[in-house]
Amino acid sequence: MKSVRTILLGLAAAGTIAGGVTAASHEAGVPASVKARQATMQLYAFNLGTIGAMAQGNMDYDAEAATAAAQNLVKLSSMNQGPMWAPGTSTDDIEGTRALPAIWTDMDGVIEKAVALNEAAAAMETAAGESLESLQGAMGALGGACGDCHKAYRQPE
Ligand code: HEC
Repeated sequence: MKSVRTILLGLAAAGTIAGGVTAASHEAGVPASVKARQATMQLYAFNLGTIGAMAQGNMDYDAEAATAAAQNLVKLSSMNQGPMWAPGTSTDDIEGTRALPAIWTDMDGVIEKAVALNEAAAAMETAAGESLESLQGAMGALGGACGDCHKAYRQPE
């Protein structure tokens, strides 16, 4: 699957090539790499919010809108995010992030969670267009993919 391959390559590269990018943006407070990954997370949340609102009956079911949101999640989770996860940007290193140091010592585990999100989003893309019941059925795995990674790699608030 091409998208998963991209994620794997991207995250594997995070440990090696991204250092220069971080160093260049340090003087402006929170590094650009950190802002970029947090912005990506906001886009995840925005699109998941649309699907979640329909699942909970807070928004009328709309197959087209739900499919579009799920497609966005597939695309976002297929991006090469490598440079956004630059070394030296954990909670041990800087202020303004909740990314735990475990990310950089357990990159295989992170990749696993990232792939799980991509797969859950792809399943939602199919389910979202079928019916509200299908969408609701796929919601647990999708939300769970976010939560699993946060539990392991994001500092609680
Ligand atoms: C592969 C791991 C992983 C997955 C999958 C993941 N997240 Fe995150 N998320 C993180 C980490 C790590 C942070 C902390 C980033 C930081 O502060 O630098 C974070 C932060 C966030 C934030 C706070 C962003 C900010 O502005 O500070 C939101 C919102 C969020 N995630 C939503 C989601 C949603 C919704 C999903 C699923 C669709 C998701 N995440 C999937 C790891 C993940």
